Amino acid sequence: MNGELSFKYDNIMEETLGILGISNGELESFNSESSKIIENLKEKELNGEFGFLDVLNDNLDSYYELKEYSKNFENILIIGIGGSNLGLRAAETGILGSFTSRYEIPRIYYMDNSDPEKTHDILSNIDLEKTLVFVISKSGNTVETLANFFIVRNLMKKKNINLEKHVVSITSGGELEKITKKENYIHFEVPENVGGRFSVLSSVGIAPLSCTSVDIKKLIDGAKSIEKSCKCEDIFKNPALMNAVIHKLMYNRGKTVSVMMPYIERLRSFGMWYGQLWAESLGKNGFGQTPVIAVGATSQHSQLQLYMDGPNDKIATFLKVNKYRNDLKIEYEYNHHLSGHNLSEVITSELVGTENSMKHDDIPNVKITLSELNEITMGKLFLMYEMQTAISGELYGINAFDQPAVEYGKKIAHECLTGSKIDSEKKYINGKYIITSK
Ligand code: PA5
Repeated sequence: MNGELSFKYDNIMEETLGILGISNGELESFNSESSKIIENLKEKELNGEFGFLDVLNDNLDSYYELKEYSKNFENILIIGIGGSNLGLRAAETGILGSFTSRYEIPRIYYMDNSDPEKTHDILSNIDLEKTLVFVISKSGNTVETLANFFIVRNLMKKKNINLEKHVVSITSGGELEKITKKENYIHFEVPENVGGRFSVLSSVGIAPLSCTSVDIKKLIDGAKSIEKSCKCEDIFKNPALMNAVIHKLMYNRGKTVSVMMPYIERLRSFGMWYGQLWAESLGKNGFGQTPVIAVGATSQHSQLQLYMDGPNDKIATFLKVNKYRNDLKIEYEYNHHLSGHNLSEVITSELVGTENSMKHDDIPNVKITLSELNEITMGKLFLMYEMQTAISGELYGINAFDQPAVEYGKKIAHECLTGSKIDSEKKYINGKYIITSK
C-alpha cells in the first residue's frame, strides 16, 4: 500500500508572497520556541493528557471479534454527533468512498442530527432486524444522540428485537452507560483522556470501522508512522508543527479564515472533521480561525470568486492525491481540447490553476499531497491534524481540549425541554467564558 504524505508550503513564504509572506528567519526563530512547545506536549503526554496518542497502542483483538460478529447484519446504524460521528465518517468515506456505504453490505447509515425528517427517512429505509446499532456518546448524555437512540430502541423493543445482540454502545458515562449496563449491550469504553473530536482512532471510530472493509490495523499503522515526525523539535522536519506555526503567523497577519479544499470527493467529510477540530479546539478567548470547508473543483464554481476577490483574510489548504483509485478517459469525436485526456488530468489541472492564481494574487496557501488515499495516508492525515491542533493550543496559550462556550446553549435547550430554569449565567471573566451556577 503506497502511503506517502508530503507537505508543501512555498506559497506562504516571502519569496512568493513578498512582504505579506513569512521569512525563513521567522520560521528559524521559532525553532528555539518549538523545543519548549514540544517539551510541554511530551510532558502532557506523560501526564496522560494525550489519550489520542495512547489509543494507537490499543490491542485490536476485540475489534476483530466485533468484525466477525457484525457479519450477521446487513446494516450498520451509527447514532452519535460531533466528535462521535465526524471522524468515523471521514475515515469511512475517505477510505471506502462516498457511495460504497449506500450500496455495499454492510450499508452504513449515520443518525446525528435531531432532525425528525432525517431520522424518519433512515428508519423507513432500514430493516432493524438486520441492523447492528452503534450508539456512541462519550458523555452518555448528549441530547441528540439519546433522543434518536430512545426512538430506535423503542422501535426495536416493539419488534421484539434482542437489544443485547443488536446494540453496540460506545460510552463512558451518563444515561447511556446506565442503560448499557441495565440492558447488557455490547460495550466499548471511550478512554477518559480522549476528547470527542480527537477520538477517531479510539473505540469511537475503530469499533464501527472494523465492521466495514476498512483495514483498521493499517489505519492505526499510518497514524503511528507519522507520530515521530509530528513530535520532532525541528520545525523543518515536523509537518504538524510547521503547519501550526504557519497558520498562527498567518492569523497574526489577518488571515482569520482557514479554507480546507481537498481535490478528491472522498475527502469531503474529512473537511467536516477538520472544521470541528479547528473551530472547537482553537476558537477561544477571542481567538480562532474560522474553518471553511470547500471541495475542489466544485467549489471553484461557488466560492472561489470570494477567495480571490473578496477580503484577503484567508489561508487555504489544498489536499491532493497523486493517484485516483479509478480514472476515465474522455473521448469525443469532434475537435475539443478535453478529448484524449483523463478525468484525473482535468481535476489536477484545476488544482494547479487555483493554486497558481492564488499565489499570483498573494493569497497564502499550503498543499498536502498523498501518493494515494488509503488507510495509511488517512491515518497520517488524522494524526498530523490532531498534533497540529494540540501544538496550536500551545501556540495560542489555550486549552485545545475543552469547549466551554457551547455549554450555555445546551443549558437553554434543556430548559426548553424541561420547562425548568437552570440557575446559571454566562460571563466573561479575565477574557474567558465561564458558566456559573447560582
Ligand atoms: O469534541 C467534542 O467533545 C464534542 O464535539 C463531542 O464529541 C460532541 O458534543 C458529542 O459528545 P458525546 O460524545 O459526549 O455525545
